[in-house]
Amino acid sequence: MQKIELDLGRNGYPIFIGRDILADLPAFMQDVPHSSRHLLISDTNVYALYGPMLLETLRQAGYDIQTVIIPGGEEHKNLETVAYLYEQMILLGLDRSSCVLALGGGIVGDTAGFAAASYMRGIPYIQIPTTLLAQVDSSIGGKTGVNLPQGKNLVGAFHQPLLVYSDICLLDSLPAKEYCNGLAEVIKYGLLDAELWALLEEKHPFILKRDHDCLQNIIIRCSEIKARIVSADEREQGQRALLNLGHTFGHAIENLTGYQHYTHGEAVAIGMVYAARTAYLLEMISRQDMDRICQLITAYKLPIECPQLSSQAILEQMYRDKKATSGTLRIVLPQAIGSCVLRQDVPDSLLLKAITG
Ligand SMILES: NC(=O)c1ccc[n+]([C@@H]2O[C@H](COP(=O)([O-])OP(=O)(O)OC[C@H]3O[C@@H](n4cnc5c(N)ncnc54)[C@H](O)[C@@H]3O)[C@@H](O)[C@H]2O)c1
Repeated sequence: MQKIELDLGRNGYPIFIGRDILADLPAFMQDVPHSSRHLLISDTNVYALYGPMLLETLRQAGYDIQTVIIPGGEEHKNLETVAYLYEQMILLGLDRSSCVLALGGGIVGDTAGFAAASYMRGIPYIQIPTTLLAQVDSSIGGKTGVNLPQGKNLVGAFHQPLLVYSDICLLDSLPAKEYCNGLAEVIKYGLLDAELWALLEEKHPFILKRDHDCLQNIIIRCSEIKARIVSADEREQGQRALLNLGHTFGHAIENLTGYQHYTHGEAVAIGMVYAARTAYLLEMISRQDMDRICQLITAYKLPIECPQLSSQAILEQMYRDKKATSGTLRIVLPQAIGSCVLRQDVPDSLLLKAITG
């Protein structure tokens, strides 16, 4: 098992990554008091696969733990689900020394994390991510929150977990589409780290087959990158914004296609291609690097184009996105494989050209 420390002073925490480690979780919960009642939150799919076993393990270790299952899907990542969680937390008698355990993908992590952040002004929680996306990205960094009808993640809080516990064997049961969804975020990290990029190019057939050695290596590398970025910039006032690579374009694509046609990862993949083309048009990267980006994304079965939307519609939606501050678009662009920068001076005409391809 590998341990990575996310250094945030008093709010810092360990990230554990390993194989077949779920049953060992109680050994890492020393800070969770046996005298209080705790709550396992999961979604229907994940609970059916891993919930009873984890519950049994925790109870055998002497924890008083109850369960609440929430419906899966982005359409349930909302205040209604959070209100339901508060209701259950009160009914079950959770108090300020109770702990929430979030077992699931990014949706469970974000929703349960937000309930923990706000219940009785904040109680501790543990992230047990079960999707690739959640293991490399959403479980780390303390961003919690839910969607409003007006947009994604518009209500939330920064609330760091007590620990993150990633068992890569849980990814074996992940549907192929969800696995590729997470690979898009992994490729994003590769554009921020040349060593990871090389691994993604070299080990591509093994990674696609979910080879455990390769998976463990990439999840460790991504977690290290995220931990380093978050510890330098917890509240996204500087370099944490680099993690939005591909997302400004991607969010616009997701929104315009009603969150139905593309997964988040697919939209981000297309967004990374648009970012690469923008960088090429600005003469920031070479033709060869731009082609490598498109090739790797394709090799991981992710799309590189979005034929059903006009470039004008995508650009207009980008301006409506919450990341447009004072009318200026802030876009992360690759300047080489392994190095990205934030730019807010890209002319609209050039963005339109990059989107059109
Ligand atoms: N907080 C952050 O920093 C952050 C970062 C990136 C994304 N996010 C959020 O994450 C969410 C997406 O998360 P996601 O991609 O993990 O989706 P998800 O939580 O919806 O999980 C995807 C699907 O896979 C199922 N599933 C999960 N683990 C499984 C397993 N091991 N085996 C079988 N099925 C499994 C789930 O039930 C669900 O149907 C979005 O809401 C996004 O906004 C948050």
